[in-house]
Formats: sequence, C-alpha cells, structure tokens
Amino acid sequence: MKKRQELYAGKAKSVYYTDDPDRLILQFRDDTSAFDGRKKEALSRKGMVNNKFNAFIMGKLEEAGVGTHFDGLVSDTECVVKKLEMIPVECVIRNIAAGGLCKRLGIEEGRELDPPTFELFLKNDELHDPMINESLAETLGFATPEQLARMKVLTYQVNDVLKALFAAGGILLVDYKLEFGLFKDEILLGDEFSPDGCRLWDAKTREKFDKDRFRQGLGGVIEAYEEVGRRIGVSFD
Ligand code: ADP
Ligand code: CDP
Repeated sequence: MKKRQELYAGKAKSVYYTDDPDRLILQFRDDTSAFDGRKKEALSRKGMVNNKFNAFIMGKLEEAGVGTHFDGLVSDTECVVKKLEMIPVECVIRNIAAGGLCKRLGIEEGRELDPPTFELFLKNDELHDPMINESLAETLGFATPEQLARMKVLTYQVNDVLKALFAAGGILLVDYKLEFGLFKDEILLGDEFSPDGCRLWDAKTREKFDKDRFRQGLGGVIEAYEEVGRRIGVSFD
C-alpha cells in the first residue's frame, strides 16, 4: 500500500490517499485540541498510543460483528482504512452524565443514565457541532431516515461491546462519539475510537482516564490513555 498526497489535515489526524482508490491512510498525530481548537498542544506519544488503541478497539468491534472501516496498522502512527463517504452526523451515547449534557440540562456529573441516551450532532467546526435531531438531519439532507436508524442500532451495539470490554478492566465507559460513513452502500463505523473521543473513569475512584485530563489541565494525559490500554489488553510495543 503506497501513501499518496494528503487529502485532509484534521485537528488530530491527517488523511492520505493511497494507490488503491478505495483505501486511505489515517495518520494519528500528537496534536491535541479541545474547545473547538481554542486549546491546543502536541502531547508526545499520543499519535502512537491512539493509533494502537483504536486498532485494538476496531478489532474487538469487528469480532463482535460491527462493520468498521479498519483494515490494518501500517506503522506506529498510521493505519489503512476503507475510504468512506462520511455522514456529517456525530452519534453520542451516554451511560453516565458528564460534559455537555451537565452544562445543557443542569444535571449533576456522575448520574447514571438508564437507559443510555442517544444524541446527534452536526459535524461542523464553524457552527461548533450543534445538536440536531432525526427530523433536521432528514429534511436538511445530512442523512436519510434509514441511515439514521442504522447508525443508532450500530452505536448501541458498540455500547454493549465496549461497556463490557472496559468493565473487565475496571473502567466505566461514560460516553463516546462515533462517526459513520458509506462504503459501497453499506454503513461502516469510521474515524476512531480512542480516549480522545470518549470518557473513561476508574470504576472505583471515578478518576478520569480520557481527554478531560487535557481539557481540565489535570496532567498525565497520555499516561492515563496507556493505563486504560494496559487494563484492557492493548499492546503499545
Ligand atoms: P477533525 O476533522 O474533526 O479535525 P480528525 O483530525 O480526526 O478530525 O480528522 C480526521 C478526518 O477524517 C475527520 O474529518 C473524519 O471524519 C475523516 N475520516 C475518518 N475516517 C474516514 C474514512 N474512512 N474515510 C474518509 N474520511 C474519514
Ligand atoms: O464535553 P463536550 O461538551 O465536548 O461534549 P459532550 O457532548 O459532553 O461529548 C460527549 C462525548 O463525545 C465525549 O466523550 C466527547 O469526548 C465526545 N465528543 C467528541 O469526541 N467529539 C465531538 N465533536 C463531540 C463530542
């Protein structure tokens, strides 16, 4: 697989064409951003840690029958994925209240959400990823009702698989964001699953092991990502 020109440089990853028109290379960089890019820092080893973390999770999801874009690792910081036509809608599931939900609805952090909630956001940096719903997504053409229904099923399926995986390592999967895309008419999970796009708390102490350490300036960000990885069986060698 040969890397060709850059297609897109995002906030945390760069995307490259390859010699296969159906495949891209995702390069995980050390760049870390929060608050719509207002807080930025390069955290040493993050690209490698997230690339390997993501590969491990995508493998677990594939084993459980969730179709993903992931093909394989090509270096410490890069992987090959199927080129998707991304659907510009972010799917968020919350098992425990935190972050935006607490701010928006005045709910105390840590409240259990049963059943888990499902929210949709428009992927649009200039508009700060506003919350949308199925009706807006359909009418404004972001996704069809069938696509939205499938994305919802898959997002809940991911919750079942990953809640159990993290629980076995003594970690609570608090919430997470997924992105999907189309590959030859099939909806596949795209982008990444790493501690950059979810919340993970120690089940006993509720210590944060995710990007909130960066958002809140708690330090030890990458050490926390590695600790989660170690507990669930990710190898960073
Ligand atoms: P952002 O765009 O939010 O700054 P990243 O830095 O993570 O995010 O950039 C990666 C970009 O690649 C995202 O816009 C994501 O939607 C897109 N992407 C992820 N997986 C695929 C894929 N399989 N095919 C096409 N685009 C993808
Ligand atoms: O905390 P914040 O206000 O950014 O967002 P949230 O709605 O509480 O986010 C819910 C979950 O989705 C968290 O795990 C975020 O890390 C993740 N998320 C993300 O990765 N990217 C976004 N654009 C939005 C949310």
